[in-house]
Amino acid sequence: MNDARRLKIAAAAEALSYVKDGMRLGIGTGSTAEEFVRLLADKVNEGMSVIGVPTSERTAVLCRELNVPLTTLEETPHLDLTIDGADEVDAELSLIKGGGGALLREKIVAAASDSMIVIADESKLVEKLGQFPLPIEVNPFGLGATTLAIEAAAQKLGLSGSLKLREKDGETFVTDGGHFIIDASFGRIPDSKALSDALFAIPGVVEHGLFIGLARTVIIAGASEIRTLNRP
Ligand code: 5RP
Repeated sequence: MNDARRLKIAAAAEALSYVKDGMRLGIGTGSTAEEFVRLLADKVNEGMSVIGVPTSERTAVLCRELNVPLTTLEETPHLDLTIDGADEVDAELSLIKGGGGALLREKIVAAASDSMIVIADESKLVEKLGQFPLPIEVNPFGLGATTLAIEAAAQKLGLSGSLKLREKDGETFVTDGGHFIIDASFGRIPDSKALSDALFAIPGVVEHGLFIGLARTVIIAGASEIRTLNRP
C-alpha cells in the first residue's frame, strides 16, 4: 500500500470513531471518502446500524457493493453527520471541494447534516484557498454567457486566471445533476466569501466548490500524527 493511501485510511479510521449506532450519515465522494465507506462497511457487517445518503452515483455504487444501507434526502431529510473529503482546507476550515465533480450533492448533503467532518491528508492543508482550481458547476444553457459573467465577477475582485470547461475521456464532463463544471484557476483567493457571493449572483451558476462554514471538524492525517482541527 502506498503512503498516500495509508494517510487516507488513517483519516477515515479516525472519522469512524465519531459514527454512532443509529446515525443518519451523509457519505462523501472521492478516494478518501471511499476509504471511509470501506471501513464503515466493515462496521455495518459487524452489526452497526446506520443509514446513509450518498453524495454521488459513484459513492452509491460502492455503498451498494459493500452493503452499506442507503436512503435519500426525500426519505431522510435531516442527517446527523456527513463525512467527506476535500481538495483544500484553510485555517478557518473553509474548503475547496468538487475535484470529483460531486460538489452540488456534497453541499446539499452537508447542509442537511448537524455536523460535517472532513477527512484529508496533510497535502490538502493550505494557508489560503485557491491553488486548487475552483470547480464552478454551471447550467449547460448559456455556457458562453455564464463563462463571461464569471470572468467579469472575478475581475471585480482582482482575480483572474484560466476558466476551463472540465472534460473526461475527451468529452465534456457532466455532473450527476446534468450540469457542466468550469475549473477556475484564480490562484490565491483572498476573500472566499466575497467570491462565493459574486458567483451566486450569476444566474447560470448552479453551485461552486467553496464550502464556507460547513465543516465543523477536519481530520488531517500526516506522516507522524493525526490532527483534529475544530471550528469554534
Ligand atoms: C469530490 C470531492 C472530493 O472530496 C475531493 O475531490 C477530494 O477527493 P480525494 O479524497 O480523492 O482527494 O470534493 O467532488
